[in-house]
Amino acid sequence: MSFSRLSTLVALALAATQLVSAAVPKRVTCADGNVTANKACCALFPIVATIQEQLFDGAECGEEAHSALRLSFHDAIGFSIHGGKGGGADGSILAFNETETAFHANGGIDDITAGQFPVFQATGLTAGDFVHLAAAVGTANCPGAPRLQFMFGRPPPKAPAPDLTVPEPTDSVTAILARFADAGFNPQEVVALLSSHTIAAADVIDTSIPGTPFDSTVGTFDTQVFLEVLLKGTSFPDAGNTSHPGEVLSPLRGEMRLQSDFAISQDPRTACLWQEMINDQTRMQTQFKAAMAKLQVLGQDTRKLIDCSDVVPVPAPFKGPITFPASFSQKDVQQACRQIRFPSISTVAGPAPTLAPVPGS
Ligand code: HEM
Repeated sequence: MSFSRLSTLVALALAATQLVSAAVPKRVTCADGNVTANKACCALFPIVATIQEQLFDGAECGEEAHSALRLSFHDAIGFSIHGGKGGGADGSILAFNETETAFHANGGIDDITAGQFPVFQATGLTAGDFVHLAAAVGTANCPGAPRLQFMFGRPPPKAPAPDLTVPEPTDSVTAILARFADAGFNPQEVVALLSSHTIAAADVIDTSIPGTPFDSTVGTFDTQVFLEVLLKGTSFPDAGNTSHPGEVLSPLRGEMRLQSDFAISQDPRTACLWQEMINDQTRMQTQFKAAMAKLQVLGQDTRKLIDCSDVVPVPAPFKGPITFPASFSQKDVQQACRQIRFPSISTVAGPAPTLAPVPGS
């Protein structure tokens, strides 16, 4: 065999080896038996276990898991692509909680910062890593959720975020979209992020009814909230419910609709984006995952972060489809987007339900 033929063969063999190693993701087995893509992530598995045990009552999709997701938003949105509005996803809301929980838009956040603070201190993580890991883990406890990304290695926050970066439910759609655009998000990403309200309840909008859920399946990460925000009518006359600032009465007894969610569902800039989510679990999961991946590293130098997403538990799947709550149907939908067909959804049998508040609120 000539030398040039031999060297061609060697080159081909080498290239083939490289192709094979590029196709097989790198795996590291940690001392505790967990497997991850990067050795640096091994330290996180016991921290995830601690978070599950000490914050989320095992691995529940309850009030604390919901609040952990809300906290990651209120932390990260303290940021502007034009500068001067805070460090973004840096954990400042936890490290400087006395300052940031005093902001009006952070009403109710003090419960979760108080709950997370001692656990955060015991783990040795930076505040940013802790807040955004806890959010990814808490969300994973909710069936139907996408498995969120987790990037590891945020430096400690330098200062609290300034006030007035977090949107309020009383804000106009124009103001909300402008605030999100200032942080780098387009209207499609805003609607995607609002999927979070499928595992949400309000404590401070109406303090007389804490834990009032935003949809009838508050323990499941499904598209039910996108449907129920569109249901016409106010609450039952005998429910004794009165509207508070930031709230639009819901026709479902025991449910609250946020004024901002309702306005976004009806606005020509966002109504079709809202409607397209209904009963499209894959679309909602994909878009929410992508928007959260962006949110959770706002203001961070991602070249310095390590992808430790494989420490996040795999969420249970959603066993859909979604349904109209009993006694509701297509005739009750306040449809603002006429350009696309409304999905066909069946109704649960039985009398109209009364939703229970989320325990622990
Ligand atoms: C237009 C933007 C938004 C507004 C005006 C808004 C407003 C609110 C309000 C008023 C509450 C209830 C607070 C209470 O009374 O206790 C709430 C709850 C919640 N929000 Fe949002 N939100 C927005 C966007 C988001 C985003 C982007 C996320 C996450 C990615 C998020 C996650 C949550 C969660 C998970 C809860 C429930 C917390 C719990 O049940 O403990 N929100 N939101």
